[in-house]
Amino acid sequence: MCGIVGYVGNRDAVPVLLQGLRSLEYRGYDSSGVAVHNGANLCVVKRAGRLSALEDALAQREVNGRCGIGHTRWATHGIATDKNAHPFVSSYGKFAVVHNGIVSNYLPIAAFLRERGVSLVSDTDSEVIAHLIDYYYTGDVLSALCRAMSVLKGSFALGVVSVYEPNVIYGVRKDSPLIVGEGNKEFALCSDISGISDFCDRYFPLENDRIVRLAEGGAALFDFTGRTRAFSFQKREREEADDREEGADDMLSEIRQIPASLFLGYESFPSTEVARALNGAKDFLVLGCGSAYHAGLVFCEAMREIAGVHVRAEIASEFLTEKSCITKDTLVIAVSQSGETADTLLAADLAKKSGAKLLAVCNVRASSLTRLADVSLVTRCGRERAVAATKSYVAQVHSLLMICLEYAHISAKITKDQYVFYQRELALLPEKTEEVIRSEPFLEKVALALKDATAVFFLGRKGDYAAAREGSLKLKEVSYLFSEAYPSGELKHGTLALMEGGVYGVIVATDPLLLEKNAATVSEIVCRGASSVVVASESLVSDLPAEYVVAIPDTLPVFSPVLSAIVMQYFAYFAAKARGCDVDKPRNLAKSVTVE
Ligand code: G6P
Repeated sequence: MCGIVGYVGNRDAVPVLLQGLRSLEYRGYDSSGVAVHNGANLCVVKRAGRLSALEDALAQREVNGRCGIGHTRWATHGIATDKNAHPFVSSYGKFAVVHNGIVSNYLPIAAFLRERGVSLVSDTDSEVIAHLIDYYYTGDVLSALCRAMSVLKGSFALGVVSVYEPNVIYGVRKDSPLIVGEGNKEFALCSDISGISDFCDRYFPLENDRIVRLAEGGAALFDFTGRTRAFSFQKREREEADDREEGADDMLSEIRQIPASLFLGYESFPSTEVARALNGAKDFLVLGCGSAYHAGLVFCEAMREIAGVHVRAEIASEFLTEKSCITKDTLVIAVSQSGETADTLLAADLAKKSGAKLLAVCNVRASSLTRLADVSLVTRCGRERAVAATKSYVAQVHSLLMICLEYAHISAKITKDQYVFYQRELALLPEKTEEVIRSEPFLEKVALALKDATAVFFLGRKGDYAAAREGSLKLKEVSYLFSEAYPSGELKHGTLALMEGGVYGVIVATDPLLLEKNAATVSEIVCRGASSVVVASESLVSDLPAEYVVAIPDTLPVFSPVLSAIVMQYFAYFAAKARGCDVDKPRNLAKSVTVE
């Protein structure tokens, strides 16, 4: 699972490839590499570690050429070393390949190749691809690719260069996304449009089971039997501005951008298509991974509370065979920042094939998910670079709350007056997020206490529990502190055994109706020696004594995750910083996981 890029044109390939890889680092940053055709040979440079290691290596060498491929890796098979970095080259350097995805039958292919005298040097599933293409080469690269495709199993996208064709790159797609871009007498391949958007104003997403051949003179498309296929480039739509704050960590600047992105709102919400999809829906299923799934949990609470409708949210990777719970009246809402998460795409595709209508809530307008969906709501929070979702999670929650209100209104689950009341409360949220951002210095202080905890439990009930789950995920992913989220009421049925000195409980408490219960939770953990942090609505804090009390502006309890999430994002950020962690690129993770 990785990012791949390719370039052929009239410019020096290396800077173009590096620029592409910089944009793709969110897909993995275990190693990176390039292969460039210098007119005579394929020059390959690859390094374990961040892209800067590759840049340093390239600065020491002359690698010139106008055609090449590049790769940034998130390790699945084989640890992060130079040896396991892409591109992989076949014997005698005839073919170089970059790969995103998984070759599921690489072991028998490796055995087949070894029997024929090929020596494999890496521990990856990817290396066999280069050797297999070479093995089938009898004078025509396209035919060799087609033969190889008839053998390779799994889901993947490839970029291929060969010593036999100096100014040509090939792209192959079998289930993993690959974009073909066209600039000024130049062509590019990329796992997503961001890596080539600087110079490609026209593009098309490669379909499944297709091979594209890109040369300076033009592009040609083939299926896996080598038959020519028609294609056309389309004009690239504008993505939201990339408003990066100079000098600040991406995670911090993205938290600070939350109010602005909510103030910006959404283009014509609800669009006729969204309204139509909501109108026709008899039941709902939300799919997502990580923070996107947690946003779905908030939606479930809001739908129960506001519309009186029971909604299921499923972790996308767990939605594998459950077609039976889908009807043609089911509206599946797939939530994803990137629109490229493989588990979410697969689950959404399965749901769609089972007859459901698919609504995407996505932050990338031109993504695999928006292309798959019948209708999309684009959260306009701008590019998110830090691996940990912050502004995108808040925008997802906000947009799902709007969807909930529209549905409740359209389907007459609430009165006109109630609708106006909820709308007004929702409209106040951007301003209230500003208030939370203003409390940044105090939140840093609390985070400095959390940083030494032996474990942190995030506790809450109903919507607050949904928010607590996101708070816990944030803390563990960036600070590596052990953390778990738990429904407060369940604590006494087992987890309370873990409360002792050194452990922190973060209790999220925004519902006045649950005030006494939440106060009891605080006492339960404190009298077992654990430390307490309360994140509560302003009007409730005086009744919730704890070591640290964070007040957030009052709002409806079902809307409060928009505010409490920001508090917990700050906890995670400052605790991670104090522990010396790389907050923007935490170990072992990737921003967008494009393998199952
Ligand atoms: C990765 C990221 C998470 C993110 C999840 C889903 O695991 O590290 O921060 O929530 O993917 O990503 P998506 O792009 O589908 O929202």
